[in-house]
Amino acid sequence: VFMLIFALFGCSSSTEQTATTEKKITVVTDAAFAPFEYMDKGEIVGFDVDLLKAVMKEAGLAYELKNIGWDPLFAAIQGKTADMAVSGITINDDRKQTYDFSIPYFESTHMILVKEGSSIKSAKDLQGKVVGVQNGTTGQEAVEKILGKENKNIKKFENTVVAIMDLLNGGVEAVVTDNAVANEYVKNNPDAKIVAFEDPEHFESEFYGFMFPKGSELKQKVDEALKKVIENGTYAEIYKKWFGT
Ligand code: ARG
Repeated sequence: VFMLIFALFGCSSSTEQTATTEKKITVVTDAAFAPFEYMDKGEIVGFDVDLLKAVMKEAGLAYELKNIGWDPLFAAIQGKTADMAVSGITINDDRKQTYDFSIPYFESTHMILVKEGSSIKSAKDLQGKVVGVQNGTTGQEAVEKILGKENKNIKKFENTVVAIMDLLNGGVEAVVTDNAVANEYVKNNPDAKIVAFEDPEHFESEFYGFMFPKGSELKQKVDEALKKVIENGTYAEIYKKWFGT
């Protein structure tokens, strides 16, 4: 009888424990940013998605990844309806006032996408041209620095995919986006006749981080796990899978 009671007790208490420790963490993203996060056959995939998986496994945390879009993602973190955002998000001073960030995990810069044969050969050539950016990104800021903040020629799109579509359709003459995303588009769409180029004179290097609500307790756990994933070679494996080197 004692053994039975013990077993029952042990059982129920351990279930309770799992129930509390397994509270799923809500992670949000804008899955229109290949190769970092994009939809493939109804699933969110990409470099960020694999890295997130490895980090959460290392940290022993259960999570759910939701594709809610770029602008809503910031609102969700600020309003604390989500615990974490993973979306190729650049760490910068402006955002640091409102959000917390993990340690950096990826270096990036901007690139200009144009149609083959375009007269735009450098960032300076964007002067007087209609330029597409994803709204609220560092790409938008980079273009504003060149063309001026209130410039009506800067066309802001909800996501990077629709910005590039508009370039194909002739609505904009250039799109400025993150270099890995620009390169991925060119590589995957050889028939689109789109070229991408850098302009180190105008575009600075920046770093991606996972984003949290200010004061989040999750940050430290994620940072520790991210460090391990970088040190133990898992990061390099994921990098190789998506970038080939
Ligand atoms: N790195 C840029 C930024 O933080 C663009 C990120 C856009 N990411 C996305 N999943 N759409 O502003």
